[in-house]
Order: sequence, then C-alpha cells, then structure tokens
Amino acid sequence: MSNSALVGIKFTDDKLEIVNQLLLPHTTQFIEITSIEDAHDAIKSMKIRGAPAIASCASLALVSHLSKALKVSPSPDFLASPDALVAHVTQILEYLYTARPTAVNLGAATARLRARLRESVEAEKKDVKGIVDDLIAVGRAIADEDVGRNKEMAKWGGDWLIKQVKGAGGTGDGLNVLTVCNTGSLATSGYGTALGLITYLHEQGKLGKAYFTQTAPYHQGSRLTALELQTLQIPSTMICDTMVGSLFQHHEIHAVAVGADRVARNGDTANKIGTYQAAVLAARHNIPFIVVAPVSTVDMSIADGASIPIEHRPALEACLVRGALHPPTHDATGGKILAEVMITPPGRAAAGVYNPSFDVTPAELITAVVTEKGVATRDEGQVVFDLSGVV
Ligand code: MRU
Repeated sequence: MSNSALVGIKFTDDKLEIVNQLLLPHTTQFIEITSIEDAHDAIKSMKIRGAPAIASCASLALVSHLSKALKVSPSPDFLASPDALVAHVTQILEYLYTARPTAVNLGAATARLRARLRESVEAEKKDVKGIVDDLIAVGRAIADEDVGRNKEMAKWGGDWLIKQVKGAGGTGDGLNVLTVCNTGSLATSGYGTALGLITYLHEQGKLGKAYFTQTAPYHQGSRLTALELQTLQIPSTMICDTMVGSLFQHHEIHAVAVGADRVARNGDTANKIGTYQAAVLAARHNIPFIVVAPVSTVDMSIADGASIPIEHRPALEACLVRGALHPPTHDATGGKILAEVMITPPGRAAAGVYNPSFDVTPAELITAVVTEKGVATRDEGQVVFDLSGVV
C-alpha cells in the first residue's frame, strides 16, 4: 500500500471533482461537481465532509461556476453588469452557506468571498471580468491555503506535546494519541488538522500509536480515519466509541487530539459527537486534550459554546450502517457490492432517535487550542482561553 496521502478534492482548470466519501473505504469514486446545486447537495449529504473540506468545496464550486460562465457565448445575464453579478454571486453564497450549519469555515469562506466581491465592485475601473477574476483568485486561495496551514498547526501542536510530555518526566518518544472522527486529508484540502498532528509525530519518529474512535453513527473513524492511517502506514488501533474510558484505564495515552467545527471566543469547541465524552474522560485521567483547528474555525464573534448552532442529522442515519458485504461480494464489473443495513427494528426512526452531529466541549476541559499561529493554553486558574494570540 502506498503511503502518500489520500486526495479528496481535485480541481483543474474549471473542473471540480470530489471523492464520494459515502462510498469509502470500499470504493474510490470521484464525482464531478457540475453546478452550485451539486456542491450544496454534496455537502449536505456528506459526500464531502469535514469543516475545511466543505469550505474548499463551496469556494471551488463558485470558482468553477464563474470560470465556465466566462467561456460561454453569449455571456450569461449575470455577467452583464457589476450589479447583476453581485446579485447572482450573493445568492449563490447565501445558498451554499445553508448546506451545513455548525462548521464555521463554510461561513468564513462565503463571508470572505462576499467581502472580496464588495471590495472589487467598489474599486475604481474594475469591469465585470476583473471582479470575476478577483473572486476566482480568492476562491482558489481558500482551498489552496489549507494544506500549508495544516502543516504549521501540526508542527506547533506536535512540538508542544513532545515538550509537555518531556516536562512531565516522559521521554517525548512513543507518544500514543487518541483522536475522534476524521480530520485528515479527506476532511481538509490535505494533511489534516488533528490527524495532521498525528502524522507530524509519526514523521518525526515520535509517535507510538494513533488510536481512533469508530465515531458512530456516521463512522468517520472506522471508514475514513482507518483508511487514512493505513494508507499513510501509521501504526494505529481502532476503538469503539464506548471504549474510551477503558482505553484510558488500561493503556498509556499521552494526549487526545481532535479537530473542530467551531471554536468560540472563550475556547468552547464544537466537534464531532463523542468529543465531549472523550474530553471528560481525558480530564479524569489527566490526559492533555488538544484542539487543532485553523484560524478560520475560530469564531471570535460568539462568546461561548452556547451560541454554536448544532446540526441534527436525520433519525434514519443513526438507524443504519453503510458498508461492503462481508465476505466481499463483487458485481459483474468486479466492484464490491455496497449496502446500507438497518440495525434497528422497523419504525425506530419514527419512534424517536436523538442524533446531534456535534457536541460542545467546554473550554475548561481543553488543555490547548492550536492554530497555524501557535498554541494557546489557559492561564493558571482560568477556565476559559484568551485566543487573541492565535487568531
Ligand atoms: O460531520 P463531519 O464529518 O463533517 O464532522 C467533521 C468533524 O467533526 C471534524 O472533526 C472537524 O470538521 C474538523 S476536520 C479537520
């Protein structure tokens, strides 16, 4: 197996393709995003997921849409005047923003594109083509910047952890790190956030083992993180979500590293469901709990986690699992037969299912918040963070 990272998004010229994450790890199928509606659907249905990846997908969908429009003759109506363009692009950005509510990266990306639209329109002598070119440049930058900042975060967080463990009398080698959900190449434009930190430790020869939760009900852990870690040839062990306490009781775990969908000004962090319980258990076992997220995930406009909108997914999604038939069974073309299997009695979805996609971990359970600008820790005796130095 190759140890080069998986690719989740391909963008060449004006063609945007994403790997359909609903089919992973059994089938790698790239699907083309041919319209804004396609992008909205891909994000909402979680064919692409992960806070930075959905921001990249939305931005590149707009880039693709505008690039294609420039080539059409006669030009579409929305290229007739700056006013027409503003109305058209604003509507698109508002629509894309509604695809998923919790990850602020999507909002940050659409806000950045709207700001550039305003600036370009206000700039003297900018014609419609000039404004479109500006939007295309920003849309591409949102996706491209992600990989570099992930590597910066991984280094900040990885070096900090090594130092912490050494400071606590450890060697800083053989570090065992638990993560939740999927925060690697598939969840970002590349390298990853929390999984980036784990990858960095591995590259430095400092990682013992990565542990990861299956992350029910969507199984981002067992389907995607498992695939990423195996592809990168990083030693790893999967646990069920119910086993975090047992893991901490019976194995030496040096840190928990998670990504984030939105970090409030005080450090409260929304991330995949199951993160909060891992943080409670980490605190009980004195295990450092690290949030790794780009500046674009920090929402300084909200004071604390109570204001973070939490997405609830359809009840049905918690009643079924997706996968390949076991033992593997192939169709006439040699492809593995995939299936969605109900694990509940009929009628369960209608009878009642609690299915929040994210939970909020209070700042007081978080040891460090890492962005591409550095590592923030809580001041002695404080239960909240001052994140001003890392945003
Ligand atoms: O519902 P998902 O799969 O989009 O949730 C993803 C997560 O919660 C990730 O931990 C988060 O987006 C950080 S990804 C780098």
